Amino acid sequence: SLVSVDYLLEKAEKEGYAVGAFNCNNMEIVQAIVAAAEAEKSPVIIQASQGAIKYAGLEYIVNLVETAANTVSVPVALHLDHGTSFEQVIKCIRQGFSSVMIDGSQYSLEENIALTNKVLEIARPIGVSVEAELGKIGGTEDDIVVSERDAMFTDPKDAQRFVEETGITSLAIAIGTAHGPYKGKPELDFERLKAIKALTNIPIVLHGSSGVDDDDIRKAISLGVRKVNIDTNIRQAFTKAAKDVFTNNPEEIDPRKVLGPARDAMIEIVREKIRVFGSNGKA
Ligand code: G3H
Ligand code: 13P
Ligand code: ZN
Ligand code: NA
Repeated sequence: SLVSVDYLLEKAEKEGYAVGAFNCNNMEIVQAIVAAAEAEKSPVIIQASQGAIKYAGLEYIVNLVETAANTVSVPVALHLDHGTSFEQVIKCIRQGFSSVMIDGSQYSLEENIALTNKVLEIARPIGVSVEAELGKIGGTEDDIVVSERDAMFTDPKDAQRFVEETGITSLAIAIGTAHGPYKGKPELDFERLKAIKALTNIPIVLHGSSGVDDDDIRKAISLGVRKVNIDTNIRQAFTKAAKDVFTNNPEEIDPRKVLGPARDAMIEIVREKIRVFGSNGKA
């Protein structure tokens, strides 16, 4: 059965590592994530975005992940990634998600606090964990100048107030990462991360982690990041392997001959990330 993200992050916080949260949207991705976690004896978070749910269907996602979790010995959480409304969060909880993110980062601090509290009121009594977001995490297409960049970052004092007024148990922050691939090398604001951790003392979530140097990821973990989100690296491994099949054999017509190597490539990248996060052997 599925465990909550809080359950996994409590141990990670005590022992100073991070748990990988890997995005899925089809069977092969789910299979690759649990196979990698099992091989590394690592706890793992499988997450689905609203777009992934729209693509695969809510029941498919829940049943794929529950089936996957039942085939392995390591603990698995199923988490909603970037839930943007109360209604979406409730749908996922009803269907069996063990954890949800309520992303109120587009709202004012007060509105974000109110929305997060509304979700916590439902989720907390039934043991479903909740991740919130404060600050604006960049997107691939965003061409952001430095002055704007800083304005999007999470304010440590706001984070302190947010935690005090919600009692949230994990928080996604903006310190210079972005979703999707990076054009250059991302510059992370580690001082800000340090300040946020000192004022909140809760597990911190790093989004946009694909394309961030292993050393920077390790440094972020040493400063209190406990959940690291990876989607783009999995997509890249999948599509590269599939392209290689078609390059080497343009006549290939068997989907299994395309998706099989793609699945193998995803297992490898997820295993590598798990080792960087230090959650290997922690199951
Ligand atoms: O947060 C973004 C994730 O990579 C999910 O992306 O909305 O295209 O499924 P998506
Ligand atoms: P990447 O696009 O860098 O993999 O980030 C994924 C993410 O943050 C999902 O919430
Ligand atoms: Zn994200
Ligand atoms: Na990224």
